[in-house]
Amino acid sequence: MAAVGIDSIGFYTPGFYIDLRELAEVRGVDPDKYSIGIGQDEQAVAPSNQDIVTMGAAAAVKVLYYSAQYCSAQPPRQSQPDDIGLVIVGTESGVDASKASALFIHGLIGLSSWCRCIEIKEACFGGTAGLMSACDYVRTHPGKRALVIASDIARYGLGTPGEVTQGAGAVAMVVSEDPHILAIEPYTTAYSHSISDFWRPVYADSAIARGRYSTEQYIGFFRKVWDRFSAEAGLTLDDFAAMCFHLPYTKMGMKAFSSILGTVGSEARGQLEQRYHSSIAYSRRVGNIYSGSLYLGLLSLLDNDQSLDPGDRIGFFSYGSGAVGELFTGILQPGFGARLHARHNKKLLDQRHKLDINEYEQIFTNPIPYSSEDSTADIKHADPRNPFILKEVKDQERIYGRQ
Ligand code: COA
Repeated sequence: MAAVGIDSIGFYTPGFYIDLRELAEVRGVDPDKYSIGIGQDEQAVAPSNQDIVTMGAAAAVKVLYYSAQYCSAQPPRQSQPDDIGLVIVGTESGVDASKASALFIHGLIGLSSWCRCIEIKEACFGGTAGLMSACDYVRTHPGKRALVIASDIARYGLGTPGEVTQGAGAVAMVVSEDPHILAIEPYTTAYSHSISDFWRPVYADSAIARGRYSTEQYIGFFRKVWDRFSAEAGLTLDDFAAMCFHLPYTKMGMKAFSSILGTVGSEARGQLEQRYHSSIAYSRRVGNIYSGSLYLGLLSLLDNDQSLDPGDRIGFFSYGSGAVGELFTGILQPGFGARLHARHNKKLLDQRHKLDINEYEQIFTNPIPYSSEDSTADIKHADPRNPFILKEVKDQERIYGRQ
């Protein structure tokens, strides 16, 4: 059976952010709590002209029209790929209770109509559900590729304990046979159990989290899937070059990882810890992007660590509150480095506009509301790096376009 996995991967995050030391000062909190205790430095802020559709479309364009167009994010008018048979968006900040955001994105980026477009929801697990379904699809549809997009805006509310763990962004991946970056290994371990650690009622735009409880559950789910996976797959931590974790905040992954790091010798442990730090570099500056956080971690690892080699095994722990946890693995492919865009990705973070806390609060309190009223998006805060914007909601319909 041919290898199946990630052929290309890219991300988009809005062009605005806040410095969390400034937020700490305004909230009367010791800044070290945010940067050391929670592990976050900056936080992406999405103005109301950006949502999961526009962010997802921006990320998708990069991976579909690979290379020349990657940096300009301008989809070519011609040469649409006609072998994309499946478009899946994993999200927990969907814009419609019925229509899949994959359809809005499909329309914006101009894919062939001969494909299946769906949206998957299971909190932060949606991206992994999409990736696993895409791998299954590619295995059973020879010659076809799938586009997986994980796009979210994490909102908890001003002055809440979760505020420091907000963020916004999208990761897109093309899944294919004989992938250029990472072959997903077929054996995985998933565990599901209905709990109430984090949720968002349909009438609300901010999530409710039982912070300490959700941290305990995340670690508990990790240990369950890790123990079973390693016993059944016959692998120990020594078989892994690196591990990527779902990152609601960057300290969270390390809390879970620490529980098994003692099973390897000090040299291996040092290397795994160093690579963990490479995997959280982007999340420290973007914040939580829910369904895409794990994959932003993969991108950050590949862009920032120069010591990984083809053949190395990377482990992944995906967690979606509610809750589902899954442990799976992938093998780095020959020449994977040539498919990365580290310089562009770093520029995407470095060339953002810093908001002061007043501006951030104004943007945060003026989203497109969950309401039947017409509403116009904030075009003052436009990001020229994303060609796609939400213009308005008119007669209860979302109107997207190009800027
Ligand atoms: N310097 C360094 N560290 C500090 C500090 C300081 N001045 N003040 C506090 N800290 C540390 C605490 O010791 C704690 O570390 P620990 O977790 O290793 O014990 C950490 O900072 C957080 O402090 P805590 O008091 O627990 O924060 P909080 O009650 O304000 O909770 C969150 C903040 C973000 C942890 C919590 O709201 C949360 O978990 N939210 C989101 C949960 C989530 O995203 N769940 C979704 C699914 S995974």
